[in-house]
Amino acid sequence: MKIEVPEYIKSIVPYPPGKPMDELEREYGVSNSIKLASNENAWGSSPKAIEAIREALTNLHRYPDGSNYYLVQAIAEKFGFTADEVVIGNGSDEIIEFLVKAYVEKDGEVITSHPSFLMYQKVVQVRGGVNKILPLKDMHHDLEGILENVTDNTRLIFLDNPNNPTATAISPGDLYTFLSNVPESVIVVLDEAYVDFMDPEMQVDAYSLIRNSKGRCGVVVLRTFSKAYGLAGIRVGYGLMASEVASYLHRVRQPFNVNQLAQVAAIAALGDTEFYEKTLQGTREGMLWLRKEVEKMGCTTYPSQTNFFLINVKGDAAALYEAMLYQGVIIRSMKPYGFSNVIRITVGTDEENYRFIRALDHCLGELGYVS
Ligand SMILES: Cc1ncc(COP(=O)(O)O)c(C=O)c1O
Repeated sequence: MKIEVPEYIKSIVPYPPGKPMDELEREYGVSNSIKLASNENAWGSSPKAIEAIREALTNLHRYPDGSNYYLVQAIAEKFGFTADEVVIGNGSDEIIEFLVKAYVEKDGEVITSHPSFLMYQKVVQVRGGVNKILPLKDMHHDLEGILENVTDNTRLIFLDNPNNPTATAISPGDLYTFLSNVPESVIVVLDEAYVDFMDPEMQVDAYSLIRNSKGRCGVVVLRTFSKAYGLAGIRVGYGLMASEVASYLHRVRQPFNVNQLAQVAAIAALGDTEFYEKTLQGTREGMLWLRKEVEKMGCTTYPSQTNFFLINVKGDAAALYEAMLYQGVIIRSMKPYGFSNVIRITVGTDEENYRFIRALDHCLGELGYVS
């Protein structure tokens, strides 16, 4: 083959997919391993969503509803928007892609932070846009630095709020001040994948941010069913935005971008307050307990506005990650992000948390870190 590929595609580093659990278990000679690495929902999925999926299985020979009519209605109603202000994606990942496709031409600039959710920069690269990447400041988005980097070519600013992987959030006051200083020609994308886990006083009013944008930037709020609603595997997320912005995203999306099962599952999960509350409460309690236990071992923990948190294990995080695998516990090392002694873990069920603590205690001792 002698087909040329653009340089900006060649330079993309593929997203490193995790190995399937079965493969990892074979490789490390373990069984019944637990995964606390991907900020998923430890309590499974909403039983109502599973029931809705079961009922929809007889209709798989039909294409899904391309307008996502009932899911859009359910979201609009729940959050006080109109249907033309809601866009559904095959995961909120896909809405990130729509935004970049619609608004970023070649050489258009997009501002993101590092570390933050990796998809933003990747999608911009695919498009041939320019990533302007600002390091976090004290683990938070550097809002002043971002403002200083806005130019006439800036199209989008991505802020994951809370941030993944640091679990920090922007205080509402700081966010409002920031937004009021971003020019009208820019869209700020507030990625609220973990909003459900935030302290109520840290949450912002998406409705007023989107509706009251006179004289300043536009705002798009992204949310997902992958975390608090437990539907990561079926891929569904949504964006709230001005109807004009939504109209452009609809132009770049595929006609059947969200599958039928995802649509019915998301509607059912949205109405399943029992499962939702169980998730939030379990996360809160699990996080408190985990923090106490890891601190007893001499590690330090970082504050979190999410269902995951960072732990300084006072030794090489990559070696600990490897040692934990042999114990059948999958965590995330933050070494690739420049935090060499830090791991990230997602809160699990009581049983999983207990196993994590036992394994951590064992590995810290084995590696001669703090225990
Ligand atoms: C900050 C952030 N945004 C978006 C996503 C992706 O969500 P979805 O599963 O809806 O694509 C994640 C997933 O981990 C995330 O951490």
